[in-house]
Amino acid sequence: MSAPDGWIRPLHRWLSIAFTLTVIVNFAARVHGEPAAWITYSPLLPLAVLLLTGLYLFVLPYRARPLGDARRT
Ligand code: HEM
Repeated sequence: MSAPDGWIRPLHRWLSIAFTLTVIVNFAARVHGEPAAWITYSPLLPLAVLLLTGLYLFVLPYRARPLGDARRT
């Protein structure tokens, strides 16, 4: 495991909780009609950071091996 993976994975994990809560709050608020714009758009910030950290986690296994070991399976 490379160094940044140590905090990027837990950041991704906790942001998934925060993101899920903002979606639940959105549905709950919509019971009373169209909610305030900041509630409507509140999932976007955690989702944007989830996308960046998720893409980082995705490429991790592919850059795990040093270039010199590329011929090994
Ligand atoms: C937006 C684009 C996203 C991308 C590209 C992405 C990508 C990834 C990748 C590549 C992993 C690592 C998988 C592995 O190691 O096998 C991961 C883990 C995870 N993702 Fe995402 N993800 C995204 C969004 C989300 C969302 C929206 C949620 C939940 C609301 C979420 C929840 C999680 C959780 C809980 C893990 C496990 C974290 C851990 O190992 O502790 N992700 N994601």
